[in-house]
Amino acid sequence: MKIQTFDQYQEAYRQSVEDPENFWAEIAQEFQWRKPWKRVLQWNFDEPSIKWFEGGKLNITENCLDRHLKDRADQPAIIWEPNDPSEPTVTLTYQMLYDQVCRFANVLKRNGAKKGDRICIYMPMVPELAVAVLACARIGAIHSVVFGGFSARSIADRINDAECSIVVTSDGAVRGNKVIPMKDTVDDALIACPSVKRVIVLTQTRSAVSMIKGRDVWWETEMKQVTSECPAEEMDAEDMLFILYTSGSTGKPKGVVHTCGGYMVFTAYTFQNVFQYELGDVHFCTADIGWITGHSYIVYGPLANGATTLLFEGVPTWPDAGRFWDIVDKHKVNILYTAPTAIRSLMSFGTEPVEGKDLSSLKVLGSVGEPINEEAWHWYDDNIGKNRCPIVDTWWQTETGGILISPIAGITKTKPTYATLPLPGVQPILVDENGVEIEGNGVSGNLCMKFPWPGILRTTYGDHERCRQTYFSTYKGLYFTGDGCLRDEDGYYRITGRVDDVLNVSGHRIGTAEVENAINMHTGVVESAVVGYPHDIKGQGIYAYVITESDTAHEEDLIRRDILATVSRIIGPIAKPDKIQFVRGLPKTRSGKIMRRILRKIAEGDTKNLGDTSTLLDPNVVEDIKQGVLIEAKA
Ligand code: WTA
Repeated sequence: MKIQTFDQYQEAYRQSVEDPENFWAEIAQEFQWRKPWKRVLQWNFDEPSIKWFEGGKLNITENCLDRHLKDRADQPAIIWEPNDPSEPTVTLTYQMLYDQVCRFANVLKRNGAKKGDRICIYMPMVPELAVAVLACARIGAIHSVVFGGFSARSIADRINDAECSIVVTSDGAVRGNKVIPMKDTVDDALIACPSVKRVIVLTQTRSAVSMIKGRDVWWETEMKQVTSECPAEEMDAEDMLFILYTSGSTGKPKGVVHTCGGYMVFTAYTFQNVFQYELGDVHFCTADIGWITGHSYIVYGPLANGATTLLFEGVPTWPDAGRFWDIVDKHKVNILYTAPTAIRSLMSFGTEPVEGKDLSSLKVLGSVGEPINEEAWHWYDDNIGKNRCPIVDTWWQTETGGILISPIAGITKTKPTYATLPLPGVQPILVDENGVEIEGNGVSGNLCMKFPWPGILRTTYGDHERCRQTYFSTYKGLYFTGDGCLRDEDGYYRITGRVDDVLNVSGHRIGTAEVENAINMHTGVVESAVVGYPHDIKGQGIYAYVITESDTAHEEDLIRRDILATVSRIIGPIAKPDKIQFVRGLPKTRSGKIMRRILRKIAEGDTKNLGDTSTLLDPNVVEDIKQGVLIEAKA
């Protein structure tokens, strides 16, 4: 299934469009199935109903673990680099990972878990996080990993939405020189989570934690009570594998659902091809397993290929801004997959942290999560890849399960800031606001997909209608990505960013409505409007316009801090606004809709070209807001 030349790519692409069922069946045959599927694909985008390999029986962990034991039991599956570089690396071979996963699967069973149960995982970037994820999959429980930066309230919302019965966490986490109290946060969350019967706590920092009798148990003690034999649960290809919450333009985050068969085939196929993985290569994806990138390209994609995947606990700038390069040097990393925001942040330290580091093992560089600007692209290419490593700018989403548009390393000619061409099986289409296809090259529009690929989301947990509305109703018969995109004269795709009210802050998706709801919860706040603005490091920063009940001019700084504390408490520190401007009114249309276009312009610092403001309910508020910006700029 590995593409080795550009001709082969074109041929695979042609086949995948002309005969998608046979194309994907051939790829799926390379995996281990207990029973063959009855139909390769059944779909319609109207309901939506999408089924790949239905009737096929498998367990994804048999494909990620058991089947590698014959040939590479002793090969490293996971290399773990701890936060503190003076502490020892941990290497788990395939045999060791297999044993641990089976043991922890038995621990889950011992604590009442069974097929179909939902299990919330809130953990630091340690090997046990991957073990917990795979152990759920082993017994057919559905994992819902919550990123370690979310607040108690966000955890509680996610646990309740999925009615999780077990939470797996750790006492604390270390990131840089900070210690983060994870169990405390879970305890706060659980005050409002009646479905949770058991909490399994890993010892990581050995900080003091409260362990509630009858509810909380230690990971280590439990692991001693079980054997390392745990037969894998037989799953249908269309049984749920996991839920992962992600922000949209309205309401609370949605639980995106992926299923076992299609997700496995798609992540494995894209991993092997995009990165051109060769056996023995060390793959370092710097994402957190709490995000889709970690699910697909730290855990499932690499392990399904028998690869060696590197898991890093810390942050790129601690103890200094050379940490990534030290890791590449120390572990002879061959593939480095990171985010533009990390590149821009490291770029700001200059090239000194790179000097003296041996980066000659690198073969392929990757970028994901947000559009990469030209300057960052070249810095990455010049200083890290030394102009000899292809850069794969991979475009995809939580909902797509795996990479959809990307160069194939060393095979597709790259162009800075372009995700280039669709992978086989991926059929992009650009449409205008009315859903009319924009054909030809040298055009731009809203990016949609007109045919399913095996990794596409199947539903949003507990609310299928929301899935239909969000992704399949804007344009009939199409999956709408929410991204704007241009297709240049060569037919290359360049993603220009979200066209909905979703922000991308340091590669994290945050809904403006979510941040507004959090701000509005603060006492004294009447209304708020949140927009994004260009930020040198984060890509987008969060700009909040806030109306308070009374004149607050004398204590603005204090209220600003209170609002930040509120947002941290409700969502998590990642959603804290970078700028808060107090205003007396918001620009609204006569029907009461906030004109975000105007607010965006002002936040970008462009107070001159605001377009037509005559349709506003009260055009004066715009003047007020502009004045406010000017005053702030002077302050
Ligand atoms: C953005 C992350 C430009 C895009 C895998 C998308 C990108 C959202 C790229 C999904 C890229 C991701 N170039 N933009 N290479 N990759 N995006 O769900 O706006 O966290 O819709 O998935 O990130 O973010 P998510």
